[in-house]
Amino acid sequence: MKALCWQGVNQLSVETVPDPEIRNEQDVILKVTATTTCGSDLHLIGGYIPAMQAGDVLGHEFLGEVVEVGSQVRKHKVGDRVVVCSFIGCGRCWYCAHDLWSLCDNSNTNPGLGSALFGYESGAVFGYSHVMGGFRGSHAEYVRVPFADYGAFGVPEGLDDDSALFASDAAPTGWMGADLGGVRPGDVVAVWGCGAVGQLAAKAAMLLGAERVFSIDRFGYRLRMTERHIGSETIDYSATDVGAELRERTGGRGPDVCVEAVGMEAHSAGVHHAYDQVKQQLRLETDRPDAVREAIYSCRKGGTVFILGVFAGVVDKFPLGAVMNKGLTVRGAQQHGQRYVPMLLDRMARGELPTGHLATHRLPLADGPRAYDLFKHKKDDCLRAVLHPGG
Ligand SMILES: NC(=O)c1ccc[n+]([C@@H]2O[C@H](COP(=O)([O-])OP(=O)(O)OC[C@H]3O[C@@H](n4cnc5c(N)ncnc54)[C@H](O)[C@@H]3O)[C@@H](O)[C@H]2O)c1
Ligand SMILES: [Zn+2]
Ligand SMILES: [Zn+2]
Repeated sequence: MKALCWQGVNQLSVETVPDPEIRNEQDVILKVTATTTCGSDLHLIGGYIPAMQAGDVLGHEFLGEVVEVGSQVRKHKVGDRVVVCSFIGCGRCWYCAHDLWSLCDNSNTNPGLGSALFGYESGAVFGYSHVMGGFRGSHAEYVRVPFADYGAFGVPEGLDDDSALFASDAAPTGWMGADLGGVRPGDVVAVWGCGAVGQLAAKAAMLLGAERVFSIDRFGYRLRMTERHIGSETIDYSATDVGAELRERTGGRGPDVCVEAVGMEAHSAGVHHAYDQVKQQLRLETDRPDAVREAIYSCRKGGTVFILGVFAGVVDKFPLGAVMNKGLTVRGAQQHGQRYVPMLLDRMARGELPTGHLATHRLPLADGPRAYDLFKHKKDDCLRAVLHPGG
């Protein structure tokens, strides 16, 4: 079959790779109908995530048709249209039983790498480096889905592929940021980043009852899209001092909950940015945490900062003094999608959670490298480029 492979830093190509096979009785094989680029892939492509190997198949947000089922699969049959959670959870370990699916103890087949980096390994994710299990990704004609009874979800009739697709990763990630960030009715929430994850975090905050939600980015088309489809207020960080603006717009107090949906390659005009870029390039720090710093400084006293953006290792100039003296709660997580996906699909089907607008570009699998060029360089107002391996 054909698949989009990582070949080296900033090098992608479509290759012929072996077809996937059922390896475990709980697997299903999916014929991929839609699979999207994600901000997380940019960190892989840029070489900031360790343990990638030439030939690794990318892609972790996808939807498709079941074409083969393992003997112990109970919930799915051949022909079902399902969307699959990007993180793989076994459904049985202590973490899965506690709804902490991205921390599954059984799915990651390379636990040693993660423990060396983080103290304990995380769960596995499709198409996301050997630290996270080295599973083949979904930018392919077919993909093997382990523990399919837990990770694959039937898509409601009437909900189109390019909307349901985002239940795989961007929607549950955004929802988790607002939910575990503790958003309560009446809260003021600020979200850094107007990519798919940031937009859906802002929408989640609104649906959880936030009174005012601010979305922050610098790309005009992303800010306009967020205003139009999500309905939050926007702030262009390249045109203003975000902390001062948030204070002014919130009667001097600042947001109750700050959600960071930017990640390790944050951009900023500030003096720390040049410092971070030099240190990151010299591999003296792994991540550039500009938006995390700004969220910590901007958050009201006693508030919560939730980090959705992906970080790989260690950062400098982390404002620990602000965390401690302002009494902040700082949390983060890879997404625990299995706990949210059915609810999110219902909301999408009812028209409460808009996602269809995120798929700004639709391309065949053969155009995978071009899809990432559009997405990475934000060409032609690209928000997400969706690949359709079936054509
Ligand atoms: N926690 C999880 O499970 C999970 C799941 C999916 C994605 N992610 C991560 O979420 C992040 C966002 O993903 P995405 O697909 O929306 O990416 P994206 O690249 O489309 O969007 C990121 C946005 O952040 C903006 N940005 C950059 N610097 C900024 C700053 N200083 N302040 C405000 N905005 C800034 C960019 O302009 C861009 O619009 C990535 O780091 C991705 O890896 C995490
Ligand atoms: Zn993703
Ligand atoms: Zn588990």
